[in-house]
Amino acid sequence: MPKCFVDGKEVEFALGENLVKVAKRAGVEIPVFCYHPGLSVVAQCRMCYVEVEKMPKLQTACSTMAAEGMVVKTQSEAVKKGRQGTMEFLLLNHPLDCPICDKAGECDLQDNSFGHGSANMRHSEERRTYVDVDMGSVIQKNMNRCIHCTRCIRFGDEIAGIHEMVAIKRGNNIDITTIDGKQLKTEYAGNYSDICPTGSLTLKDFRFKKRAWMLKKTATVCEGCSKGCNMEIQHEGNVVYRCVPRENLEINKYWMCDEGRFNYRYTQDETRVVDPTLRGAEGAKQASWQDVVASIEVKIRNGDVLFLVGTDLTNEELSAIREAASALRSGIKIRTFGNADVTKSSEDGPADNILKMKSKTGNLLGAEKLGLEPLTGEAKAETVVVFRGGRAVLPKIDSKWTAGIGVFNREESAGFDGVLPGLAFTEKEGTLVNHAGFEQRLARAVRPRGGCKPVSEILMLLLNTKSKAGQA
Ligand code: SF4
Ligand code: SF4
Ligand code: FES
Repeated sequence: MPKCFVDGKEVEFALGENLVKVAKRAGVEIPVFCYHPGLSVVAQCRMCYVEVEKMPKLQTACSTMAAEGMVVKTQSEAVKKGRQGTMEFLLLNHPLDCPICDKAGECDLQDNSFGHGSANMRHSEERRTYVDVDMGSVIQKNMNRCIHCTRCIRFGDEIAGIHEMVAIKRGNNIDITTIDGKQLKTEYAGNYSDICPTGSLTLKDFRFKKRAWMLKKTATVCEGCSKGCNMEIQHEGNVVYRCVPRENLEINKYWMCDEGRFNYRYTQDETRVVDPTLRGAEGAKQASWQDVVASIEVKIRNGDVLFLVGTDLTNEELSAIREAASALRSGIKIRTFGNADVTKSSEDGPADNILKMKSKTGNLLGAEKLGLEPLTGEAKAETVVVFRGGRAVLPKIDSKWTAGIGVFNREESAGFDGVLPGLAFTEKEGTLVNHAGFEQRLARAVRPRGGCKPVSEILMLLLNTKSKAGQA
């Protein structure tokens, strides 16, 4: 492999790699604004200046490819002065907003100013200000904070496949905005906030809810469809505040869709059923775990019983349900459900040209690999027990008695005779197999809400109730 030198360290590189990547491998972080590894290179912010031996002027590391024997200096006086000049220029119009800006604590402008800027400003002119357009439900715009890096414009054009962000006017009056001031249309708008290196484009959903440095971060996987995008759940005090994509070059690269990003909301919605309920003469009422478990156990002892299992459950949950079904009684039928139109992985496929898949549950292929068969038509049996992770779409059920085990809201569980609340994807561990066969791990970010219990524990309660009934 060819080699070059970064600050005196010898480092190997692949042909076509730029100096930002090569330096990183040598343990040297080069500050950037306009460069993003998932977007085209435009070299317009001039933050990534480096000195390259035998080149008379400073070079931009993002647009300079490493070459055999190249000698690169990232800490020379000329480089420091160049970066300082860039910072001074970028801050000419930037407001002193950090105390009230949602980006504070994770802002490239803040970090690069601290690391490479100067403590003094020489200008005393008034800063320009903008009146901002409404960009729709996902993004809040604040153009006073913009440094014109054009990452957002390139994200729209190159990744979201929609030319909706543009730069109008020029020079000091430049304005990054949407075409004709329209609202954003892409279903991937949250990424604008992730890639904006300043607080110009922030998430409306997250605004003023929590300072970035207070959040705990849990690396996990999105359950929103069979793509299995890697993401991070950011939470504090047992509340999820936001989800952001995690880099995985084989699956989602650096991105995620808005449906997946905001999917966590249902897990902490006040309509979620978090206590056991049982239907009696006066309708459904909160009941004890013991009573609901006993009612389900009695119903599944005899007659025609169907276990409906969601393809939104983990492999571990699905296996445990299958084992428990045969331990409870022979003849319990098990069928999967999840998507009205995509019941088998052979029917799954891309729902757009970016990330989304047709299967809106995260473990369709995993359930298939476990040998579970999909429900065809209506769910018809004397007793039906529905196990659900939270995303699987409930099929039409024709039964004398139905129980729900897992995550449901009040409306969804209205037709059930008994409900035992289970864990949502933010509250449990387990594995999901994505559409391409990658087995990935869900990680637990927050404690279960209310009285919710893991499926394994609920099955144990059912099995214990059965053995006690047998002894009596
Ligand atoms: S809004 Fe953000 S991403 Fe877009 S040009 Fe301005 S600073 Fe860059
Ligand atoms: S594409 Fe699918 S897995 Fe990826 S973020 Fe969206 S819903 Fe989640
Ligand atoms: S990061 Fe290289 S010029 Fe902007």
